Amino acid sequence: MCGIVGYLGFQDPKKVIVEGLKRLEYRGYDSAGIAVIHDNKIKTVRAEGKLKALEDKLATENFNGHLGIGHTRWATHGAPVEKNAHPHRVGEISIVHNGIIENYLDIKRELLDRGAKINSDTDSELVAHLINEEVLKTQNLFQAVQKTLGRLVGAFSIVVIWEKSPDELVAFKDGPPLIVGLGDKENFIISDVQAALQYTKNYVYLEDREIVHIQNKEVRYFSADAKPIEKKVNHLNWGTEQIEKMGFKHFMLKEIYEQPRAVAAAIQPHLNPETHQIEIKNLNFKSSSKEVFNKIERILFVACGTSYYAALVGKYLIEKTSRVPVDVDVASEFRYRQPIIQKNTLVVTISQSGETADTLAALRLAKDLNTHTLSITNVPQSSIDREAEGHLYMNSGVEVGVASTKAFTSTLALLNLLALEIAKARGHLTVAAENQAVKNLLAVPSQLETVLAFDKYFSEAAEKLKEFKGFLYLGRGVSYPIAMEGALKLKELAYLHAEGYAAGEMKHGPLALIDSRMAIVVVAPTDDLIEKTVSNLQEAKARGGKIISIGTGENEALKSMSEYYLSLPVADWMTNPLIATVPLQLMAYHLADSLGLDVDQPRNLAKSVTVE
Ligand code: AGP
Repeated sequence: MCGIVGYLGFQDPKKVIVEGLKRLEYRGYDSAGIAVIHDNKIKTVRAEGKLKALEDKLATENFNGHLGIGHTRWATHGAPVEKNAHPHRVGEISIVHNGIIENYLDIKRELLDRGAKINSDTDSELVAHLINEEVLKTQNLFQAVQKTLGRLVGAFSIVVIWEKSPDELVAFKDGPPLIVGLGDKENFIISDVQAALQYTKNYVYLEDREIVHIQNKEVRYFSADAKPIEKKVNHLNWGTEQIEKMGFKHFMLKEIYEQPRAVAAAIQPHLNPETHQIEIKNLNFKSSSKEVFNKIERILFVACGTSYYAALVGKYLIEKTSRVPVDVDVASEFRYRQPIIQKNTLVVTISQSGETADTLAALRLAKDLNTHTLSITNVPQSSIDREAEGHLYMNSGVEVGVASTKAFTSTLALLNLLALEIAKARGHLTVAAENQAVKNLLAVPSQLETVLAFDKYFSEAAEKLKEFKGFLYLGRGVSYPIAMEGALKLKELAYLHAEGYAAGEMKHGPLALIDSRMAIVVVAPTDDLIEKTVSNLQEAKARGGKIISIGTGENEALKSMSEYYLSLPVADWMTNPLIATVPLQLMAYHLADSLGLDVDQPRNLAKSVTVE
């Protein structure tokens, strides 16, 4: 959940590292710091709060070295104050760390018994003590780091520098991502490619229990037991424009507007626009995808947060079209409930970052249980992508806003394709139905363009909507998970209380919540359940509830009951969820912005939750 940048090269390390941390700030932003070698000494500057506080401190600092490490933190051990900020310097070394050292109490006790002076409340500082002890003995940084690894239990990624070796970086990866950026006469060790994208597009992704040793311009890779290993260099063709805000006020708004292109990028590789047929490519199962889809007897989705809500939509799509039973589990529950997995189960993990710890652990458990596994991610070569058997890619491009938007709608588009491909493999999809479904999907980007018009609508309505004390989001069938996703957006962006509920459940309790200060947001595009949803709303209306409804075209029954009515273009029941999501994203965005909150970096959150 933290952002790490290590740099060795010809540029000013302060500039490179701070710029890189800015691009990683979405991974955690409660404190930050930098350590560089200056006049053969480690110089450390740290600051509580956002990166801006560190930049202000650094404004008057200049360094003459070419080696440094930096870190932007999301606190796990120790409050987000300066003394707990990274890098942690002990003796001759300095370290940045992402993850958790589970046996830190034992190590702390051992160090205190040896008289060590411990300055912070973090587990990271303890690692620095151990490495410093080793480097004083071995006078060799690589050996000191490698020997220390054997002492540590947990998931942790670290980058270390030693002031006696101003041309050397050593890093170890286990759990949180660490990537090596290979530049021209300069190299980077980073948490995510964005941090070095402006300097290089060549990257090596470290796997768990791997070490990288950078000395001058030489980069070598080792296993944890110090055996040399070969690593593949990946060339990324992302442009830096994907990183900049492109004129939008926030990354999140930019990414909401990117959805038409993102959904098109997700589906185009798998559709034949001439024949209107689906041809999902490069799923890369061990056997053919048709064979896998034919023999599976159950599908189990496992994910977290917004990705979990996408999985719930997937359940409706797949069960209705292919008649394969589908279950959906929150990853943090799945991994500990000793799940019963019958043979011929396909476990599908959905993760935008591809690094969510709970989802990764669930994937590993599924593999141990000998299931087929399929990952749907937005980051090629992420841990979840690399470790799954089959792969599908959201292709959304970099998603910087902590609140997921374009990755969610792209996932829904992929789940449409997956449902149809499975139905096709099992003989449940006629050619005519397939052609129509493909046409429906190809129409989605322009339908998304249409509903982006609600940007202006909610920028004006937000002032009034702020007056509500709470928000109840309702939906039926495939709109129910969209109601939950809409509620999550409002919670995580505007810090307002919101709940997503099955519309049919109102009379079993939530109706008691209804009064004139409760907003009822109902997701009700026209489908076979619309009449039932409208009658549920009568119950709420009769009790003074204020209704914000999202319907297809001019649905008079809905409009007549609503304070606010938002009209969606006509779409198929399978693609309605993608269209209906956008007004909910925009409503949450504008409420948060009108409350003066930090839309791209909501409090207490991080973009990628790489610890439990
Ligand atoms: C989404 O808006 C949230 N930021 C969060 O729920 C997120 O979806 C969740 O942490 C899962 O992330 P992943 O898709 O990268 O696994």
